[in-house]
Amino acid sequence: MIILKSPREIRQMREAGRIAAQCLVELEQRIRPGVTTGELAAWAEEFIRSRGALPTFIGYHGYPAAICTSVNDEVVHGIPGPRRLEEGDIVSVDVGATYRGYVGDHARTFPVGKVSAEAARLIEVTREALERGIAHAVEGGFLGDVAHAVQEHVEANGFSVVREYVGHGVGREMHEDPQVPNYGPAGRGLRLRAGLVIAIEPMVNAGTYRVYTMPDGWTVRTADGKLSAHFEHTVAVTPDGPEVLTLP
Ligand code: MF3
Ligand code: CO
Repeated sequence: MIILKSPREIRQMREAGRIAAQCLVELEQRIRPGVTTGELAAWAEEFIRSRGALPTFIGYHGYPAAICTSVNDEVVHGIPGPRRLEEGDIVSVDVGATYRGYVGDHARTFPVGKVSAEAARLIEVTREALERGIAHAVEGGFLGDVAHAVQEHVEANGFSVVREYVGHGVGREMHEDPQVPNYGPAGRGLRLRAGLVIAIEPMVNAGTYRVYTMPDGWTVRTADGKLSAHFEHTVAVTPDGPEVLTLP
């Protein structure tokens, strides 16, 4: 069941999105060689609570932290802990903030110090793919148009799109209908209407799109051990076009 949002609800979701986005802006300043992912998570939790919001991820199916930190060949859902980031790593940070009952869901991949040209290109292409997907989140379009735009940009650059995990509707719940894949044909799928709010979140691998889950039950890694990047925005379809709600 798809729950369309009123303009008033979208205004409220903008506030939740802003907290998630500001959290990542501030976290970026703290991402450097030597910092542990657990330190980043503790800081993020404090920031979210200080803004009067709740860390959406904590307790979600038992997930233990306010953010996911996925390093190098980790795709998504990496659990923060004692791991120290090293020069040359890339780290995907995913954050959720629930404010006055509405969720903002947002992720970006950051370089740690100086990274390889290939890693930098993977990050850039993933960010661009998300932007291209967002541009297709317009009234009268199809969900497949979003998916196709993402996939085309990723594959034109020689990378691959993860299939097993997809974006989703967002609202009072972090995960609502519909599912939002990052691959597939244009002109198909759900017809987009004003009031639809979705998280578009391409996970892009440098090598194969195949992934597997670690014994911790959460951490998803690339099957070939190559790098992966992840960007996510919560986006509203409005009469005036796509509105990104996760902006600082
Ligand atoms: N943004 C992720 C998603 O859309 C985060 C979920 S992580 C969890 O699925 F820990 F909360 F499960
Ligand atoms: Co999400």
